[in-house]
Amino acid sequence: MSNEIIINSKLKPFKKKISVSGDKSISIRWVLFASLANGISKAKNLLMSDDVFAAIKSIRKLGINVKLKKKECKIFGKGLNGYKFRKNITINAENSGTLGRLILGLLINTKYPIKLVGDKSLSKRDFRRVTDPLSLFGAKFKLNKNKNLPLTIYGSNNLNPIKYFEKRGSAQCKSAVILAGMRTKGTTIIRAKKSRNHTELLSKYLELPIKVKKNKNYDYIKIKKVNKIKTLNYNIPSDISSSAFFIVLTALSKKSELLIKNVNINSSRIGIIIILKKMGIKINLKNKKYYKGEKIADIQIRSTKSIKSIKCPTNLNSSAIDEFLIIFLVAAKARGVSHFKNLGELNQKESPRLKWGEKILKKMGVKTIVSKNSIKIFGNPKLDINKKIIIKDYLKDHRVFMTSVIAGLSFGGKWLIHDKDSIKSSFPRFLNIINELKK
Ligand code: S3P
Repeated sequence: MSNEIIINSKLKPFKKKISVSGDKSISIRWVLFASLANGISKAKNLLMSDDVFAAIKSIRKLGINVKLKKKECKIFGKGLNGYKFRKNITINAENSGTLGRLILGLLINTKYPIKLVGDKSLSKRDFRRVTDPLSLFGAKFKLNKNKNLPLTIYGSNNLNPIKYFEKRGSAQCKSAVILAGMRTKGTTIIRAKKSRNHTELLSKYLELPIKVKKNKNYDYIKIKKVNKIKTLNYNIPSDISSSAFFIVLTALSKKSELLIKNVNINSSRIGIIIILKKMGIKINLKNKKYYKGEKIADIQIRSTKSIKSIKCPTNLNSSAIDEFLIIFLVAAKARGVSHFKNLGELNQKESPRLKWGEKILKKMGVKTIVSKNSIKIFGNPKLDINKKIIIKDYLKDHRVFMTSVIAGLSFGGKWLIHDKDSIKSSFPRFLNIINELKK
């Protein structure tokens, strides 16, 4: 079967209601927490994607039973000390930075060494950012010479709590330390630059000994050793990062309207909504409600004719970190020059995304000026593409693939996009939903 896709026409006007898949960050965290609970936890709308399957395979390797059906997943936790496994096991985090980094926090007290591997993209990513703080607890790590995977963790049964300053705004680093803190006697104290807070919210919902104080730029977190985790039945809300592609597609299409049902709108994730609203995009959040500490809403979007450029406030970077590629497409159609700064972290993702943002825009004929950590995009409200564009060799970064598809459907041109399989890691239903919009 061909693993490429051709997009050679813009999408016709549409007026639809859709649901996107379950949130990836929450799905992976649910799997990890449920694996340590005392008893059976059930999840509905768990994201059925390779990143989440990798999390399930990992806990199975650690001796935890999982029953996975189309509509429901059941995890048979055996308590905080319930992982049972042979010597010399290898855990494969595949493409998932979230899994690879968070699971190290849980393995901090493991009896036997465990090897952690990943696919080509994950093996290029920085793991010292988690092994450095986790070493301070007393675990040991052997990393590949480039400070990444494959690595081996040597857990310790004599852990000390740590004081940790998380400066990057990385939820993965913060969460790995919270999870390690849960396994460590005493109080672990974290000062963390703002980033997504699903780990904290789940911990609070489970009544674990965690305290969070917020100020403008930092969260102060205290976590004590956990003695027991109760089971967690969870109906996972839909993913705003997956919704983002359809939000932008609707905004850029003519005479279209879309309602995306039941999306997680946690304030640490809605950077895209704030940024696009500043750019004049017509977005409404409807039926807002809370579910187990998370905020949820239906997102309504309408086509927008006149788009404003933006000097993007850097305090929104973390809450839109996975959405910048798709936001760049909106900037490409804006009136004036948009400027996005302090985005060096984008080059630490599944592919160097700032570079890929630049490459895609250049191929589209959009002028950009890029530095190591910023990009200026010279928008063109009349942008219309007539040429052939090929997208390949992008380390199968799912968000590069999906951004390219949306660019083709919004601006025209003949796009040949390789590695369609890349969507399996976060959003296997992506192309099915595009087909729903075509009907
Ligand atoms: C994630 C955190 C972010 C994000 C990733 C998911 C998480 O990464 O880019 O897709 O679930 O904690 P960083 O922590 O590296 O910023």
